[in-house]
Amino acid sequence: MVNDHPRRETIVVVDYGSQYSQLITRRVRECRVYCEMLPWDAPASALEAFSLRGIILSGGPNSVYDPGAPTLTPQILAQGVPVLGICYGMQLLGHTLGGEVAAARAREYGPAQVALDGPASPLFAALGPALDVWMSHGDQVTSLPPGFVALAHSQTSLAAMADEGRKLYALQFHPEVVHTPRGMEILRNFCLDICGCRADWTAGSFVEESIATIRRQVGEGRVICGISGGVDSSVVATLAHRAIGNQLTAIFVNNGLLRKGEAEESLKRFHRHLGGSIVYVDATERFLGVLAGVTDPERKRILIGHAFIAVFDEQAARISREAGRVDFLAQGTLYPDVIESATPATKSAARIKTHHNVGGLPEDMRLTLIEPLRFLFKDEVRAVGLALGLPEEMVYRAPFPGPGLAVRIIGEVTPERLRTLREADAIVREEIAAAGLEREIWQYFAVLTTLRSVGVMGDSRTYANMVALRAVTSEDAMTADWARIPYDVLARISNRIVNEVSGVNRVVYDISSKPPATIEWE
Ligand code: XMP
Repeated sequence: MVNDHPRRETIVVVDYGSQYSQLITRRVRECRVYCEMLPWDAPASALEAFSLRGIILSGGPNSVYDPGAPTLTPQILAQGVPVLGICYGMQLLGHTLGGEVAAARAREYGPAQVALDGPASPLFAALGPALDVWMSHGDQVTSLPPGFVALAHSQTSLAAMADEGRKLYALQFHPEVVHTPRGMEILRNFCLDICGCRADWTAGSFVEESIATIRRQVGEGRVICGISGGVDSSVVATLAHRAIGNQLTAIFVNNGLLRKGEAEESLKRFHRHLGGSIVYVDATERFLGVLAGVTDPERKRILIGHAFIAVFDEQAARISREAGRVDFLAQGTLYPDVIESATPATKSAARIKTHHNVGGLPEDMRLTLIEPLRFLFKDEVRAVGLALGLPEEMVYRAPFPGPGLAVRIIGEVTPERLRTLREADAIVREEIAAAGLEREIWQYFAVLTTLRSVGVMGDSRTYANMVALRAVTSEDAMTADWARIPYDVLARISNRIVNEVSGVNRVVYDISSKPPATIEWE
């Protein structure tokens, strides 16, 4: 992994497989300290690439006695920076440095109280004498390693220990979760007071650093960047444009699967806010051509992905001919994608859906990737978008899938069915906006099903399409719940759709959570 900013103060979270490892990373960044996560067996060179100020050892599912359990590698302590072990991280410190770890008589899962009953420590500065915390462990440190003192106890376990001389700290509970209400103060004490970080990592400093990095990387080269209207690609294009001006060409592909008015509105917004050279490609016919007769959801996704690549490939070749060789492709890859693709567990995870952004370009294009957001979380991208002066409608735009309405039309995608769905979907969007629910609901849209049912309109029988409404609340799209939209809003949406959209006589509301359902229907 290339470290773009060798002088930026960094805390590294060493990942032992906890479900909270990413959350620790986020929390450290909320202290305005740059933070990255590395696997537990990362080589010394990976740690040395940073201007390292501290290391946090995450929790994990193992017991230190499990055969093949992850260990505390010598390079971690060799860095000579303060270390904070959390849960499994604490047990590893205890086990490796000469203390004892054993299965607790009573496992602790959930809320607990700990008494800060040891000597005063900078880790708990301004806290105490008791803390509400969140525990989740079976093992515990039963005897302190030499040099350590106990700082806190729960009713049944040693809850915190420290070797102040070597600046080694450990917590049995989880300061990163909201159920440890003062956990952020503990993390801030560690990052700022113990590690001595300056708390100067902000969206503004990120923008400055990224612009400098892109300039350095690109030199006199040419860059292309796909823009979809979503926040990630808008932020990438804006950063790149600020960095290299007209050496950037942004490409907006209309795949014919966009929502009503979306292509026109997006283009207007791009011209108003992104600046630079923007190429608009209307590839509607090509996409609808390859989708003709296709009903299988995965097949649709794959064909759309290939069509995107073909369009992009052609555009890159054209720009190379007309304006000079294209050397770089700027993409809005985010940190969770980077982490996921680096975790062996997720590599073998079942493929639920083939997600397509404008990525995976053919090898022979030999474009070097520029991914300025590859170390950011979504909310950080939004903060950067605002720091760049992008309008809120771009920064907070609800996610819209790359394959667009094709995954919201069950069965075959035809111009006729697209028209029907677009009209119904526009009504959903209008009514949700009118009710002021846009920010509360993560995504809301209409789905055109293959079901037709009998209805009565005027005095005549109808046999027409069924539209489903889908609206979910979510933090990150990994899990979601169906949105409790007020009945009167649902009634208005349903009423308008059956009255205004020809060919639809029935509307149903999808009340499934994710899991087990997914957000999109295909
Ligand atoms: P699912 O349906 O898997 O969707 O629960 C999770 C989130 O991802 C969006 N989504 C996509 N986004 N390309 C994208 O850029 C895709 O192919 C794609 N498929 C689903 C979906 O809208 C939701 O926000």
